[in-house]
Amino acid sequence: MIPLHPAAAQIQDTGAIALLRSHTCGQLRSSNIGQEVTLCGWVDTSRDHGGTIFLDLRDRYGKTQCVVNPDSGAEFLEVAKKLRGEDVALVKGLVHARLEGKDNQKLSTGDIEIRASEIRLLNRSKTPPFFPNQPELPGEDLRLKYRYIDLRREAMQRTLMLRSQIIKAMRDYFEQHDFVDVETPILGRSTPEGARDYLVPSRVHWGHFFALPQSPQLYKQILMVAGYDRYIQVARCFRDEDLRADRQPEFTQLDLEMSFVDSNDVISMIDGLMKKLAKDLLGLELELPLPRMTYDEAVRRFGSDAPDLRFGMEIVDCTEFARQSAFRVFSGAAEAGGYIRGIKVDRRAEEFSRKRIDELTEFVKHDFGAKGLAWFRVETDGSLWSPISKNVEPEIQLQFQQAFDARPGDLILLLADSWDVTCKGLNGLRRRLGAELKLYDSKQMHFSWVVEFPMFEKDEAEERWVAMHHPFTAPRPQDMQLLQTAPQTCRAQAYDLVINGYEAGGGTIRIHDSDTQQVVFDLLGITPDMAADRFGFLLDALRFGAPPHGGIALGIDRIVMLFGGLDNIRDCIAFPKTQRAMDLMTAAPGTVETKQLHELHVQVETPPVKN
Ligand code: AMO
Ligand code: AMP
Repeated sequence: MIPLHPAAAQIQDTGAIALLRSHTCGQLRSSNIGQEVTLCGWVDTSRDHGGTIFLDLRDRYGKTQCVVNPDSGAEFLEVAKKLRGEDVALVKGLVHARLEGKDNQKLSTGDIEIRASEIRLLNRSKTPPFFPNQPELPGEDLRLKYRYIDLRREAMQRTLMLRSQIIKAMRDYFEQHDFVDVETPILGRSTPEGARDYLVPSRVHWGHFFALPQSPQLYKQILMVAGYDRYIQVARCFRDEDLRADRQPEFTQLDLEMSFVDSNDVISMIDGLMKKLAKDLLGLELELPLPRMTYDEAVRRFGSDAPDLRFGMEIVDCTEFARQSAFRVFSGAAEAGGYIRGIKVDRRAEEFSRKRIDELTEFVKHDFGAKGLAWFRVETDGSLWSPISKNVEPEIQLQFQQAFDARPGDLILLLADSWDVTCKGLNGLRRRLGAELKLYDSKQMHFSWVVEFPMFEKDEAEERWVAMHHPFTAPRPQDMQLLQTAPQTCRAQAYDLVINGYEAGGGTIRIHDSDTQQVVFDLLGITPDMAADRFGFLLDALRFGAPPHGGIALGIDRIVMLFGGLDNIRDCIAFPKTQRAMDLMTAAPGTVETKQLHELHVQVETPPVKN
């Protein structure tokens, strides 16, 4: 055991850590040569070169090479020899230029090194389950359990720094535009619609529950009634829903609401923010206004309400002519009210072996419920070839050629199915092929808006209308009548911000009169009694001088993911939950004492027996 440096104990008492070091491990340059400095940090690497020890000391600012040799003193050489990766050490010494040819241009401190005159162990580390500098990434469970080690990795530090900068840039921008930052409650009330709530039992009120907010939606609308005409909040939101790579049960929104505005006002406010973020953080110049596309156009051309517009590969609808084929896959789908739609891979058919096409077929079947995947390869003479070509009449084949503007070497992929399955399947195929064929530069960023969403969609069982965004969304003024006559065609004053095919934000202009609000509730099957019980405060507030208002919420975790070029939201959050909604470091959720349950008047059912 190396004894702890007495300073280490003292520091813990006085909290005077800052005084221990003169510089950080990323700070020193040639201009510091000749200065005496003291650095503190974690031992990143330690190499013994025949009695001279090279230590790389690391902190979140960088790494500095420290040299300990017999000149440093026998006592310190002994200390240095025993240092291991992740030990915490202090090194004092003179800044020297590195020897000729030994500089390291990969390090910001690569021109210099410290010749140690003193070296101390501040704290020993157990051998960690993995090292922050190891080349191969450890399994994610291990990273999450030992998150404090994982967060020492440079990539994680960079992402958390980026997150902090993004949030600061957002706050600065909105402050310049006169927004007020208001906090809203975490303990609120469960409201129908939306995702499943996280509930908190009340100790004081038997059988009553708080719900954690899915978003501050109703509070921010109330703030508009109260006259705080420009509100923002960096708001924590909680949704108990199935998790995906871009979803967490607990996530953060930049939540915003404005009074006396229409969709254009909200959209241009966010356009300005995106321009600033892209410029400040990525050095990109965005042209404003950001492009806009209606929901109908987005699903028609790309099969998705959050299309990835970094590349083309648009959907072509072939229903009109393909329905006339005797091939049952096509005619059968059309007769059943379905569609024949497809996409085309330009000039790279030779990269698609039968095996690869079989994999794509499995993918659309398994992930999107498609019945199969039909395809044609365009031969050098321009004709189509496929195992199904003998089933499809030459004149119909010609129409496929024309519809897709097919050229030799192209590959046409087709789905014959319901509108929904063709959208989801082709969107899935398009995204997969876009990435696999590298149809865009990984650094490319595409920002756009999708607008005019439908007000309503049918729930999964097709039994009732649900709000596509939320029940407080206003219809387009010209669609007001349709609320009564044809709600399925009614379009909302809704807008989503889409970045690289992800929904990065979504918002709407709200209903600001209680009568229209009640009409929408009726359509959604929310009776006046239920509305009064759950949203009475909102309906009341709307009767006390509610200004026209609207807003948006941006998913901060997703924006960090996209700006950081990452594909997993967990890498953008310091302490995220797993896909199974657990925190592996603290082992939450956990059981509690029976006494706590009693106090909350809660009883736990016996879990079902697992087979
Ligand atoms: P919405 O539900 O569309 O709107 O959420 C806004 C944005 O938040 C992000 N987001 C998520 N990020 C991570 N994990 C999740 N589980 C998750 N769910 C949503 C998305 C999304 O675009 N109150 C309305 C906004 C409004 O109308 O003003 C709302 O919450 O990026
Ligand atoms: P089958 O006649 O079912 O053997 O299918 C012939 C080809 O058509 C196979 O390549 C299937 O993958 C494809 N196929 C079957 N059903 C569909 C469909 N609904 N849409 C597109 N292709 C399909």
